[in-house]
Amino acid sequence: MDGAALLDIGDRAAAETKGQLRKLEAALDLLRCPATGQPLLIEQDALVTPAREHAYRLSAAGLPLFAEHAASSDAERQRAHYDRIAANYIAHLQYPHTIEYAASLDSALLRVVGPGDLGTIAEICCGRGEALQLVGNRAERAIGVDISQNMLEAGLADYEAAPNIVLVQGDATRLPLADAVFDSVFILGGIHHVNYRCALFSEIFRVLKPGGRFFFREPCSDFVLWRALRAIIYRLSSELDHTTERPLLEAETVPVLQSVGFEVRNYRRHGFLGFCLLMNSDVLIFNRAFRFLPGIRRLTRLAAAFDEWVLHWPLMQRAGLQVVGCAVKPDVQRGDQSPTEGAV
Ligand SMILES: C[S@@+](CC[C@H](N)C(=O)[O-])C[C@H]1O[C@@H](n2cnc3c(N)ncnc32)[C@H](O)[C@@H]1O
Repeated sequence: MDGAALLDIGDRAAAETKGQLRKLEAALDLLRCPATGQPLLIEQDALVTPAREHAYRLSAAGLPLFAEHAASSDAERQRAHYDRIAANYIAHLQYPHTIEYAASLDSALLRVVGPGDLGTIAEICCGRGEALQLVGNRAERAIGVDISQNMLEAGLADYEAAPNIVLVQGDATRLPLADAVFDSVFILGGIHHVNYRCALFSEIFRVLKPGGRFFFREPCSDFVLWRALRAIIYRLSSELDHTTERPLLEAETVPVLQSVGFEVRNYRRHGFLGFCLLMNSDVLIFNRAFRFLPGIRRLTRLAAAFDEWVLHWPLMQRAGLQVVGCAVKPDVQRGDQSPTEGAV
């Protein structure tokens, strides 16, 4: 590579960092020091507390690194895991059948979210920003938090042109976010990686405004067959880490959400045999060949519709593989709202 090309890359990186800094400046009121809860200032290439006892470096791409030195042991493990598999994880979501099935799960989530502007939102365990891609254009401002720098940096370019969307590195159980500033918080596929769920849900409760909503979509294993299968697969696959992969059980999840103060408004399962075969290309290697099947997109849509039909029978509901849920932080001033689809 010649000197001019190197200069070009250097200039681009500097411009990207400058763009990130501008966005961070506008989002400072949403951020907090995860160690002390103090507000933060931007100083050169770091975010610092007012008396400068805590400083959080920005990565070369401009990501604030809130969990570079202090994170829970679960988070440390997940950081190492997702930093290693980030490229594969993202590649496996690009097959036509995976995209098509994921779209049906997105529709299920969007039905629960409902229409309208979403105000200020956060996506926790955001990876490349899956929820931000889906609803970021309905948010006034949005922040994505994830422990893996590689996952975040894979998504960074998608939001370069979005002045309202900021990504930061942080631990979901020690969020670098201010109290009661978010209208909605999303987690898509992150809860099951966090063993200390009470700390996670308490943090989400803390950052939500009264009346704010917590939306989640996660693997669930209320059906004994899926529980057994997953226990085996999680141990065998190099793409999964069985010590930090624990799909949700309703009997365990709802009480923890309630214990931190949430009202659980929705808890509905989706995905059955179609999900099993057409998603999971990271584990089911044969599934990757489906992309060459003519009409695979249509077949996937039919499989997703079949799964929904099977799961609409009351006795089958617990056999779903993914739960879409919504929990609300009660607003004592405004009073209760009425339950919606799949209410518990
Ligand atoms: C299954 S991936 C889903 C990511 C995202 N929904 C996507 O598709 O890009 C789980 C994500 O959770 C993140 N994660 C796991 N434990 C975390 C923790 N304690 N704090 C923050 N992020 C965490 C991982 O780094 C990973 O990016």
